[in-house]
Amino acid sequence: MDRMNEQERWIMSFYRYSEITGAMFFARVAACMPAGPIQVNLNKHFADESMHSWYWTKAMDELGYKPIRVANAYQDAYLDAGGLPVNMMEILALTNVFEKRVIKQYAHHMRIPDLNPVIKQTIEKIVDDEKWHVQWINQALKTLAQKYGEDKVNKKIQHYKAADEAIYQKFIQEHKDRLDYMSSTLAPA
Ligand SMILES: [Fe+2]
Ligand SMILES: [Fe+2]
Repeated sequence: MDRMNEQERWIMSFYRYSEITGAMFFARVAACMPAGPIQVNLNKHFADESMHSWYWTKAMDELGYKPIRVANAYQDAYLDAGGLPVNMMEILALTNVFEKRVIKQYAHHMRIPDLNPVIKQTIEKIVDDEKWHVQWINQALKTLAQKYGEDKVNKKIQHYKAADEAIYQKFIQEHKDRLDYMSSTLAPA
């Protein structure tokens, strides 16, 4: 396997694992959510994330790549840097920031010259869903702002944004050698 394929295999494994981690996270949250509009959207959200992990698994299989076991998901770093969210508003504030990061990262990936069509189609399919994730969460946060106060919600979002910037820069540094085939597309956060 040449260097580019090795890197492609690694990043696809990373995306796959990250989507699995997202699905597991939202499955747990959805399981204990009381009935209502947030429960409905959360359930769809976790179903989407688990489909995303399947799309990556399928794409890797088509390209003949065996997924690598990834040690840590990007999400784990959020909890370390940003602290554990303690209520639904904080969970959604964190997720709002995270989903935007996911969309940005996939957009970077789409800019790789001569991108493999299997990868391109996988990202396109996933990003449609990720955009809806940002939308429904924004809507839910607006509703929750009536209970928690707009100021508190905005502060939480800013808090997770700062954590996200730091985590992403660290991620790029840490995996520099694995990301160099797409480094020309990686703009600073
Ligand atoms: Fe996803
Ligand atoms: Fe998502």
